[in-house]
Amino acid sequence: MKTRAAVLWDRNKDWSVEEIQLDPPKQGEVLVALGGSGLCHSDEHVVTGDLPTALPVIGGHEGAGIVEEVGPGVTGLAPGDRVIFSFVPSCGQCRACTSGMGSLCELGMYTRDGRQISDHTARHHARGQDLGLMCMLGTFAEHTVVHQASCVKFDDDLPLDVACLLGCGVITGWGSVAYTGEARVGDVVVVVGIGGIGINAVQGAVALGAEYVVAVDPVAFKRNKALEFGATHAVASSQEAAALLTELTRGRMAQVCVNTMGVGDGDQIGASLGLVGKRGRVVVTNLHPAAETKVTMSALELTTYEKQVRGSLFGSCNPRSDIPRMLELYRSGKLKLAELRTRTYGLDEVNVGYDDMRNGRNLRGVITF
Ligand SMILES: NC(=O)c1ccc[n+]([C@@H]2O[C@H](COP(=O)([O-])OP(=O)(O)OC[C@H]3O[C@@H](n4cnc5c(N)ncnc54)[C@H](O)[C@@H]3O)[C@@H](O)[C@H]2O)c1
Ligand SMILES: [Zn+2]
Ligand SMILES: [Zn+2]
Repeated sequence: MKTRAAVLWDRNKDWSVEEIQLDPPKQGEVLVALGGSGLCHSDEHVVTGDLPTALPVIGGHEGAGIVEEVGPGVTGLAPGDRVIFSFVPSCGQCRACTSGMGSLCELGMYTRDGRQISDHTARHHARGQDLGLMCMLGTFAEHTVVHQASCVKFDDDLPLDVACLLGCGVITGWGSVAYTGEARVGDVVVVVGIGGIGINAVQGAVALGAEYVVAVDPVAFKRNKALEFGATHAVASSQEAAALLTELTRGRMAQVCVNTMGVGDGDQIGASLGLVGKRGRVVVTNLHPAAETKVTMSALELTTYEKQVRGSLFGSCNPRSDIPRMLELYRSGKLKLAELRTRTYGLDEVNVGYDDMRNGRNLRGVITF
């Protein structure tokens, strides 16, 4: 069939919205009509090359849609089913999945090539070439074909252009605090960078009963949003946060600091390490450029205060249990979803959406179909 998608042909160029050719689903695959796709910063890392990915590629990895057709061997999904895509596939059978490390499912190994999991070939084509898929999803498209391991079925009446946010931002932010950071009631939590990921780290910290939640962002709009979502304090820089925390905690500092800036920065690791106290955890969720190989921090603090630096992919979550769990929290009023969406765009406006992201205008922008 023919459909339309936003394709990146060259680094540091705009997304090209164009007609593409889409093959039918093969073994274990489904054809999905997209209903919504969030504009996450990770796709921007593909544009800049900070996240090395084969080109050309269809962008987008935070999506939800309706299954239109299933290929042979698909179990548990049928046409008409509503699915949220998990940006890391979740096979449920590999050693990672069966050890409760779903965010590290072995099928994630195919992500950089962006080809289909089943046979490592492409279903998406344009201009006589095969197209890769961001996170093996390619949600900046009216239709896509993905492996069933990437789909989490949900039966909620939540609109697809809100539900899509559960496919990356919500779970990544929440999980960074709750799972990777292991925040507990009464802890002091800092979130550095209030975008689609950071705002959900704020939500998670508030829901877990943090004593103080300190949001850090240079953009005033973001700081105001953080306060709306329950942060107790919002400051413009890590230096301001250090002074504030010293005062608030009488020098004990935070238990958890989550880094969720747009582009990770090697110097921020040390700055964040300075914001946490004894056995405090710095959670590195934001992506640092692949070319960056140096970080600055006091290793003496690691030892003498038993501080820790922890990486976090998809908030160390288990997609098949955490996506439904977050839906339940939403239904019981403990999770804000619709409020995360600052502005919606048509697929043709994807570059406008990313311009708004770069200029700090959105908590999250969402493409609606
Ligand atoms: N680890 C994962 O699984 C995972 C998943 C999704 C996204 N990410 C990454 O998380 C990061 C955040 O993504 P997003 O979509 O929320 O981005 P975003 O662009 O929406 O938000 C980033 C925010 O960081 C703020 N910021 C920039 N420099 C700052 C600084 N020095 N101090 C404090 N704040 C600063 C910006 O003003 C902005 O509000 C990106 O690097 C993204 O690739 C990681
Ligand atoms: Zn993302
Ligand atoms: Zn697995």
